[in-house]
Amino acid sequence: MIGDKKVLFSGMQATGNLTLGNYLGALKNWVKLSDEYECFYSVVDEHSITVRQDPAVLRKRSRALLTLYIAAGLDPEKNCIYYQSHVSAHAELAWILNCFTYMGELSRMTQFKDKSAKHADNINAGLFTYPVLMASDILLYQADVVPVGIDQRQHLEITRDIAQRFNSIYGEVFTIPDAYYGKAGAKIMSLQDPTKKMSKSDENPNGSIYLMDDPDTIIRKFKRAVTDSEAQILYREEQPGIHNLIDIYSVCTGKTPDEVVKEFDGRGYGDFKLAVGEAVVGQLKPLQEEAARIEKDKAYLDGIIKNNAEKAGYFANKTLRKVQKKVGFPERVR
Ligand code: TYM
Repeated sequence: MIGDKKVLFSGMQATGNLTLGNYLGALKNWVKLSDEYECFYSVVDEHSITVRQDPAVLRKRSRALLTLYIAAGLDPEKNCIYYQSHVSAHAELAWILNCFTYMGELSRMTQFKDKSAKHADNINAGLFTYPVLMASDILLYQADVVPVGIDQRQHLEITRDIAQRFNSIYGEVFTIPDAYYGKAGAKIMSLQDPTKKMSKSDENPNGSIYLMDDPDTIIRKFKRAVTDSEAQILYREEQPGIHNLIDIYSVCTGKTPDEVVKEFDGRGYGDFKLAVGEAVVGQLKPLQEEAARIEKDKAYLDGIIKNNAEKAGYFANKTLRKVQKKVGFPERVR
């Protein structure tokens, strides 16, 4: 708790081009929850370097992502929006928690298996211990809730395991966090292969809607979306393409999947795809315009970056000092 509010933590990587999956699965929920909780939203740049990055590009994308958090509707005066690398406690706690995490549990992480297959020439130790850094992000702020997409489930589970293990040795040091998944949208699938999640790293750009895509591109990609030959708009697993489009439309319009099915009863796929495309344009266009506006105000953004890094550092260091004391590091001399 901070004051009388429970704490929320979440983060996103500035790697690649953000997709509609990132927005509907995570960012949109962040905005919805932001009044209820004391929130920390990080641009997790330390996670990004587990895969080789061009430094100038990473710096630029990190700033664009931070801007996007604000453009999406997170008030940076109320929500702590900051760069992970500006708060050294993340890396320090990660080291300690590495010593409380087993090789066996890290080797079971599906994301590690996927990423090491994709980057076979760079299976570095950071890629392996990535979930420990993620656990540190969350536990540093004593977060109660972590809104994420379903692909992060395993990472949330290991975070809870590490926290419980630490608490069982040293007493109640960490709050045990709960994951929060949106009702629809927690797993947005590729438009070209609806059995695969929509991903920044998809080689086929038609599979993903990027947050910076222009309206024509968005509509075109939806028109080309892979569906089926059932010719009926029903919300069921056997029609993964249509299921995914219903999810997207439902999150964008706030209607339930049942309401969407009723709305399009008897209509063709062409009509439906166009409606979904338009609903997505309606969500992304204001976001893009707002991001472009905020980006221009360099002094404003720099002020936010500085103040929020200090605020995050204050809370993070409180937990870090406690942990350091518990594990037996010598007291600081003042
Ligand atoms: P990242 O950067 O891959 O994704 C950011 C968020 O977007 C969600 N997401 C999706 N949701 C629905 N459908 C999709 N197709 C889709 N693709 C991505 C992700 O679930 C995530 O919520 N390891 C994390 C970043 C991280 C983090 C943390 C998150 C680091 N530390 C602490 C929460 C708490 C990651 O790589 O997310």
